[in-house]
Amino acid sequence: MTVVASSPIGIFDSGIGGLSVLRHVHALLPDESLLYFADSGFAPYGEKPESVIVARVLAIAEFLLQSNVKALVVACNTATAAAIAAVRTRYPQLQVVGVEPGLKPAAALTQTGVVAVLATEGTLTSEKFQKLQQQITQSTGVNFLLQACNGLADQIEKAELNSRETAAMVQRYVAPLMAKNADTIVLGCTHYPFVEHLILEAAAKPGICLVDTGEAVARQLERLLNQHGLLHPERIEDHEPGALLAYTTGSGKALATAFRTLLKLQPAVTEVAIEVGKA
Ligand code: DGL
Repeated sequence: MTVVASSPIGIFDSGIGGLSVLRHVHALLPDESLLYFADSGFAPYGEKPESVIVARVLAIAEFLLQSNVKALVVACNTATAAAIAAVRTRYPQLQVVGVEPGLKPAAALTQTGVVAVLATEGTLTSEKFQKLQQQITQSTGVNFLLQACNGLADQIEKAELNSRETAAMVQRYVAPLMAKNADTIVLGCTHYPFVEHLILEAAAKPGICLVDTGEAVARQLERLLNQHGLLHPERIEDHEPGALLAYTTGSGKALATAFRTLLKLQPAVTEVAIEVGKA
């Protein structure tokens, strides 16, 4: 199938984390039709082997391609690190945008030269991230303190954005980094912007900068679509925004609630099962 400017954009995450990216895409490109895919039945990805993530991501890309998506946003740092190269190899014609922890913007912001990076174990131990860290450390001299936040994406998946357990977990991860003089915190997992308030509370210092790359990802998507003549034309006549549909391998009710409470959006949500191929 050939894609055209009115084809939808697929946005995908292990769960609800990608909504922190979708909100920027929706705000920047309101005319675009969006298909959101949450692999919540298999979340979290962060502590799973790379080969398992690659298989899931390829199967989900295949699913979204059946709806003729013109672009795929891998709105998950862990999936980007593990599988974006495999997606690009398998679908060379597809426009693909990934997310990675914002080390470069953080290096430009820090005054103390110490930056904390909160991400999943999978992201931090990936070759892709290690290369990025090495490159930015060499060019800026910034000291990156890496913190794998095991369990945190799970708390967010459970919609525990304000529970005592989540606050204690965030405190346990963030406080030691502050004691080492970090003044900038990279949100290296797309779930974490939803507990920004807990992170700032745990940091307990004025002037802390949080770095989230959601907006930059939306701008990169816009550039890429523009370059390929694939930006949706303005819907001048009906003034209706683009369509929004969502799929999940977990609970449809939970995803609908997340859309409503986090983004004030009400897409139709469909529960689906995704079989992982043996490829
Ligand atoms: N939202 C994902 C990320 O950005 C990971 C969460 C998970 O562990 O599934 O890395």
